This record gives sequence, structure tokens and C-alpha cells, in this order.
Amino acid sequence: MKFSFAKPALPKAGTIVVTVLAERTLGRAARELDQKSGGMLTRAMEASRFTGKKDETLAVLAPANLDAGRVLLLGLGKAEDIAPLTLQSAGGTVVAALEKSGETEAHLFVEVPEGAGIKPAEAAAEMAFGGRLRSYRFDKYRTKDKKDAKPSLKKVCLLTDEAEAAKRAFGKLDKVADGVLFARDLVSEPANVIYPETLADKCKELAALGLEVEVFDQKKLRKLGMNALLGVAQGSAHEPRVVILRWNGAPDAQDKRPVAFIGKGVTFDSGGISIKPAAGMEEMKWDMAGSAVVIGTMMALAGRKAKVNAVGVVGLVENMPSGTAQRPGDIVASLSGQTIEIVNTDAEGRLVLADCLWYTQDLYKPRLMVDVATLTGAIIIALGHEHAGLFANDDALAEALTGAGKAVGEPLWRLPLADAYDKDINTDAADMKNTGGGRGAGSITAAQFLKRFVNDVPWAHLDIAGTAWSKKDTSTVPKGGTAFGVRLLDRFVADFHEG
Ligand code: BES
Ligand code: MN
Ligand code: ZN
Repeated sequence: MKFSFAKPALPKAGTIVVTVLAERTLGRAARELDQKSGGMLTRAMEASRFTGKKDETLAVLAPANLDAGRVLLLGLGKAEDIAPLTLQSAGGTVVAALEKSGETEAHLFVEVPEGAGIKPAEAAAEMAFGGRLRSYRFDKYRTKDKKDAKPSLKKVCLLTDEAEAAKRAFGKLDKVADGVLFARDLVSEPANVIYPETLADKCKELAALGLEVEVFDQKKLRKLGMNALLGVAQGSAHEPRVVILRWNGAPDAQDKRPVAFIGKGVTFDSGGISIKPAAGMEEMKWDMAGSAVVIGTMMALAGRKAKVNAVGVVGLVENMPSGTAQRPGDIVASLSGQTIEIVNTDAEGRLVLADCLWYTQDLYKPRLMVDVATLTGAIIIALGHEHAGLFANDDALAEALTGAGKAVGEPLWRLPLADAYDKDINTDAADMKNTGGGRGAGSITAAQFLKRFVNDVPWAHLDIAGTAWSKKDTSTVPKGGTAFGVRLLDRFVADFHEG
């Protein structure tokens, strides 16, 4: 789907989209169309329940004196509530309403009331951004869809006097959308297509954007001593990989230390010898979502040429049961030197992250680290699918991430870390075991485990097990892989670590 910007003019074809504020308050373009058509829009509203609430739509056949096929009324809600997120949502709503309508092009008159606190150019850019996020589809394996079941909408043109400025503002958002869509593709691909080697190949493609991409194979990982990660991989026919993506966008900065993002990339999590039940196991193809989010974020930063030094580290493994698989009771010496007793091979993500976190702080001396992982089912019990879990050893970092999440509509909820939970992973046999003792606080004990591998670096952990995949559409995120975290981390960099 293509998004473009132009000065307002009545189109020769397609659907005209005009905005309506709460309580049927027509925008200027809507008012003009209403007059032109002898009050048709007013009558259509009165004949329906449409009142202009946020994300309400009403499609009306265009009157005979217009070239367009139809008019879509788009509710923006109350003027004082209009903000970037509401506008993204509105843009997504237009795409959702017209995507499969048979219509091929939409022409959207972008109007924001004076009091809205956002400039028309920015408003148009945000609407296009939301539209592009919503237009995502993963249908490459559907070979039998009828033509009329496929999307028809090809073009969305946003009409504003500030078309040039809008296009410029959209430029950066478009790069963020590139990162989001790339990540969604990676998450959606099945595990017979995306496994450590092929996921590393996908990372290599990003070198074209100016990212430095380095891939460690099994031999190199052995040499480094990433035994915690290697233990998870040893039951699989697919060899593990660790990929380092570097973006050096601030070579002259006073503080050259990078921000570091670390992703869990378990391309399939069967549970290993502690095997998972069959029901729903297919969902474990998206246990690499954390790595996809890190990759997508690095892509966005490089794409929009962010003025920051950043490093992304993703640990890629497949967790399988086999004659060579790791056993419960095994003890491994992690890269940090600390030994780990494996009491449950299904608690594998933390083992992968342990070595990646240690490696990252040791080699890059980052100013901070944020890891992203579909780490625990327990976070879904705690927070459901609306917030991701946030853990941090640094309050300022936790606040910055929470703020960025709010700003982009990817909310986080902080949970505690404390020594009392840390004790739960002590064991007689080794320095620690890989799961807590009892049934409680599974997400917290997982975070406590990670904390033992970050040294003194300011660190945060995002548990996205509940938000990486969605079973329902929202206005900007169609169901499926969400790439939850890409917009958040991009915004975190933009607001706190650039310039
Ligand atoms: N990948 C899972 C976590 C998960 C579960 C993500 C459900 C998305 C949906 C993780 O590797 C795992 O298996 N965690 C175990 C930990 C337990 C063995 C301590 C869990 O949550 O059950
Ligand atoms: Mn697992
Ligand atoms: Zn897992």
C-alpha cells in the first residue's frame, strides 16, 4: 500500500475521506461536501448512529455531482483529545474500513482543529504512519484466497496544505514502520523457515542500511565459552548463532558508549526434554519475537539515521528434545563463569540471554542494556495481553522506558526485583538453578536470574510473552505478530539518547 501527500483538491476517483469531530461536528472539507450534496452527509449521519466518536466510520455513496465513488466519514472524537496516537489510530481505521471494500484509492482530507496541539503536517504524517502499520499482512502462504477476499486498497493520499512538510515528517516514521513490518514478518514465519541460520541471514540483509552485522557460528560460540546458550541449542539439528548489529550514528558524541538491546531468539521452543504439552505448541514459533524486536529496532535506527551509537545482540537457538539434548540436572558453566544447574529445560530463554547479556556488558561497556524476551507464561497470568512486564535495576531507565511505551501505545508495567526472590534460584549443586523453587512469581525469578548477568550496568528487561502475538485486530496492529517493542525502543532512543 502506498501513502502519499498532496494539497487538498477533490479527487477524480476513489473514496473521499473527511473527518468529523464529536457530536457530528463536520470538518471544513466535510461541510463543503455536505453543502455540495444538498445536505447528504448530515442526513446520512442522522439516519445512523454515527456521531463522530474516535475511530467511528460511516460510508456514504458519493452524490452524482462528484467524481469520487464514495465518501467515508471518519470520527476523530473530541478536539481536545486529538494527539499523535489518536491520529495513528484514525489512519489505521481508514485502512481497515476500505482495505477489502473493492476500493483501490482513498483521498483523506486531513484537518485538525486549532486547539488540538498538533500541526496539520504532523497530523497527516501520523495518520499515514498508522495506516501503514495497519496495512500489514502476512499472507504469503495462502494460495487459495479468492480475488475478492484479497485487499483492494492500493493508495492512500493525505491531503493537506502542508503536503511537503507532511512528507518530510512521514520520512522518519516510515523508517520506523519498516522496522516494525520487518520484525512482524520474522515473527510470523514458521520455524521450518526461520531458524538460527536463516534468521542470521535476514540480519545480514540489513548491512545495506549501513549496519555492521557480525554473525557468530557454533565454533565461535564454543571458543567464546557461551555454554549456557550452547546447552539450549545442543538438542537441535540447527546450529545456534549469535548476531551483533551495530549502528554508529554518533561517532563524534562526547559519550560514545552505545545503548545496547539484547533479544531472545528461540526460533522454536518445544521445551526440550522438559517438553511442553501439545496443545498450543505451534505458538512457540514466535519465541524469537524478542530478537525480532531488537532487529527491527536496529533497522529503524539505521533507516532514520538516528544520532546514537547502538548495538543489538540476538541469541538464536532452537530448543528441541533429542538424544543430544540437555538434561534436567545438567550443570553448565556460563560465559560469566557462574555455573547453572538446569532443573527445567523449558526455562531456556534466560540461559540464552545470560550469555548474551554478559558478553554485551563485557565487550561494549554500554551505557545501558535493555533485553526483550518472550520469557515467561507467568507474565500473561499477571498482565494479560495489554501491558508487557518491565523489570529494572535502575529507576531512571524504568521511567524512561515506561514513558516511551506510553507515547507510542506499547505500555509497560513495572514489577519488582528483590533479594528475597533472588534466593529462590539458589541451589546446592551450583551457583544457581534456572528456575525458582515454587509456583509463585515466575516472571520475577526469571528476571532475578538475568540480573545476575548484567554486572553493574543500568539494565531493564521487557517480558513480552503476552504482547508479542495478538489474536485480535487493533486499529494499528492487525492480529498476528505485533512487533511490540520496536516503536517503544525507537522512541526511547529518540527521546533520551539522541542529539
Ligand atoms: N517461551 C516460554 C514462555 C512463554 C510461554 C511465552 C507462553 C509465550 C507464551 C519460556 O521459554 C518458558 O517455557 N517458560 C516457562 C518457564 C518455567 C519452565 C519456569 C513457563 O513460563 O512456563
Ligand atoms: Mn521454554
Ligand atoms: Zn521460550
